[in-house]
Amino acid sequence: MIPTVDPYPTYRRLREQHPVYWDGDLDTFVVTSYAEANTVLRGPGWSSDPSRNPALAARIERGEFGNQALRTTLLGMDPPEHTRLRRLLAPAFTARAIDALQPRITAVVKAALADLATANEVDVITDIGYPIPLAVMCELLDVDIEGAQLLRTETPKLVGILQFNPDADAVIAAEEATASLALHLLPILGDRRHRPGADLASQLLCLEDNGDTLGLDEVLATCILLLTAGHETTANVIGNGVLLLMEHPDQLELLQRDPALIKPTIEEILRFECPAKIVGRTNLVERQLGEQTIRPGERVLVLLGAANRDPAQFPDPERFDITRTPAPHLAFGAGPHFCLGAALSRAEAQETLRQLLPLLTGWRLASEAPAWRVSDTFRALEKLHLVSPAAHA
Ligand code: HEM
Repeated sequence: MIPTVDPYPTYRRLREQHPVYWDGDLDTFVVTSYAEANTVLRGPGWSSDPSRNPALAARIERGEFGNQALRTTLLGMDPPEHTRLRRLLAPAFTARAIDALQPRITAVVKAALADLATANEVDVITDIGYPIPLAVMCELLDVDIEGAQLLRTETPKLVGILQFNPDADAVIAAEEATASLALHLLPILGDRRHRPGADLASQLLCLEDNGDTLGLDEVLATCILLLTAGHETTANVIGNGVLLLMEHPDQLELLQRDPALIKPTIEEILRFECPAKIVGRTNLVERQLGEQTIRPGERVLVLLGAANRDPAQFPDPERFDITRTPAPHLAFGAGPHFCLGAALSRAEAQETLRQLLPLLTGWRLASEAPAWRVSDTFRALEKLHLVSPAAHA
């Protein structure tokens, strides 16, 4: 059992004793070292399709992960389907494409932080962390007020499906949310196919690679995947980042003196408190991984947060250091499934920090301890209250 509040001593012990170990309760091998995590994420012969594992296939068959009404998304695909879809989608998510969105991201963040200057107290998670990625997606998909309201209520329910062991209620909630978002988005997509606008959905509908294009169903499934994959994770990096800076006033001061450090700070936040805790694969060939022999069909779970603190890759890994020499952390995964939204979430997190930084002067953590959410999947704060200088003067 890995503790919720401070998993890191357990990660360290596991990595030192058994970088790859068999967890009988989870029926999976678990990887905690950076080298082996890279082998799994980048190497050939690993499948992201859960049905390649017999036990998971049986659970899918029993409907434990819902009825999979929408087409399979990138996350659960293997080549050649994954390669094709990824090649088509990639141009919409390059750093350059995201750069072009910067003015809209800046405006969204400004609106989200507008009340902060006069507030006495703020919950970084509900007031800043969640609203920003959601507002960015509303802006990018160019939904109207009714659509934005629907995205606001339904998007948080989608992530239930990403849990390692989702309970029945979470699966039903995610399915219902998927259905109502699909019903809302489908006519919009149909319309934009004929009358494309400047929004991301129109752009996805126009993507083309050697005569190949995306079907309406693929664009719909992708829009819902973007909402699912980009909401919780980006909210967490904002929340985790503010907490880390509040807990390390020397680093906050350094950053306030030199805002050029914003980019490396976001990377260090991603490394130090990795928002997505796990990535799963099914092994396709008999092989050796660390000390373990793994057979085809067996599952492997990579603990990204453990790999990100492996001293073999990151010197003094338990130190939060925003001036750390850049090294490739695994917060966005690696290899063929490397996060498609990495450039977008980096832009959102950097802009949030850039605008938040001057406002944070004098703010401090409220007396109640920040609460970590119990989740196998996300390193997520439930709430993070800050008190303004006026309130504690
Ligand atoms: C800090 C924020 C984020 C983190 C930590 C994160 C993390 C990850 C990780 C670890 C993966 C790899 C999954 C795997 O290997 O199986 C992934 C994939 C993905 N992410 Fe993100 N993500 C973030 C934000 C976003 C955003 C903002 C979007 C889009 C709006 C997004 C869309 C995706 C998609 C579509 C994939 C699937 C890529 C594929 O399978 O080829 N993510 N993300």
